[in-house]
Amino acid sequence: MRAAVSIEQVTKRFGSVQALDGVSLQIGEGEFFGLLGPNGAGKTTLISCLAGLARPDSGQVSVMGFDVQNDYREARRQLGVVPQELVFDPFFTVRETLRIQSGYFGIRRNDDWIDEILENLDLTAKADTNMRRLSGGMKRRVLVAQALVHKPSVIVLDEPTAGVDVELRQGLWQFVQRLNDEGHTVILTTHYLEEAEALCGRIAMLKQGRVVALDSTRNLLDRFSVHKLGLRVEAADKLPEAITRRGSLSEGYLNFMLGSMNEVEPLLTAVRESGCPIRDMRLSTTDLEDVFIEVMNGQDVEREAR
Ligand SMILES: Nc1ncnc2c1ncn2[C@@H]1O[C@H](COP(=O)(O)OP(=O)(O)OP(=O)(O)O)[C@@H](O)[C@H]1O
Ligand SMILES: [Mg+2]
Repeated sequence: MRAAVSIEQVTKRFGSVQALDGVSLQIGEGEFFGLLGPNGAGKTTLISCLAGLARPDSGQVSVMGFDVQNDYREARRQLGVVPQELVFDPFFTVRETLRIQSGYFGIRRNDDWIDEILENLDLTAKADTNMRRLSGGMKRRVLVAQALVHKPSVIVLDEPTAGVDVELRQGLWQFVQRLNDEGHTVILTTHYLEEAEALCGRIAMLKQGRVVALDSTRNLLDRFSVHKLGLRVEAADKLPEAITRRGSLSEGYLNFMLGSMNEVEPLLTAVRESGCPIRDMRLSTTDLEDVFIEVMNGQDVEREAR
């Protein structure tokens, strides 16, 4: 698979903060790739390097084979970025904003595509509304539209659903999924881990400027595959220590991490035999949030997979 994005040994420091500390990532053409990490991990900085908005202290970045430093214009043309911050010109309408953006890329008569984008982002009714009169979520939709006017090969979305209502979120994902199906590479950062789990084929997790996990979403989930059993037990203080030390108490539930379903029955029997009635029970499997917490607590998971 050809690399849509190639990031090699990128470092970037702001004063005393090492925002990126030797990041290397190859993202293949057509991938739906997730870039996750806690606040301040370096996600936006990495995206800025990709878009040529920040200059790495060292390392190389290229988009569709074009070096971001040496071949800036072509690299930029291949890329559509939805920025995390809401930036817009308050003097223009939505349509004018999108026409101006098309002009930056030398595209004239782009209205058919602009109409299609507006339709898909449920912005058609706002096409002639001034940017300053839009709500926050609407402005974010325009930022998404703006990133797409030149039909970029690689679409980067930095927290696109922050402050966006459920309905648009679903519409937005449908649209982005369609663009991915049509061959566009998508790179997504989000703090909504269930969205990343549902959409991304592969995920990198960043922590303090370093890649601490890199694998397919499936492998990441399998690696930590456990069943979680939560029990709400009456008179839990009477449970024998042999049981309580296997679990942890949270929100009134004693939670157990089990390697397999075979462990459920003996555990329930042991609780029952200790004379503490079970009032509620919940069983679930690992999700990306569990993996994220494990990884951030120090377990490095680096493996190339596709
Ligand atoms: N222009 C800047 N000047 C100084 N420090 C910066 C600048 N941009 C980023 N930083 C610092 O670099 C680190 C990484 O920031 P970055 O915005 O890349 O994180 P992030 O992963 O995008 O976080 P979030 O999830 O909050 O968006 C942080 O410690 C941040 O304070
Ligand atoms: Mg950010």
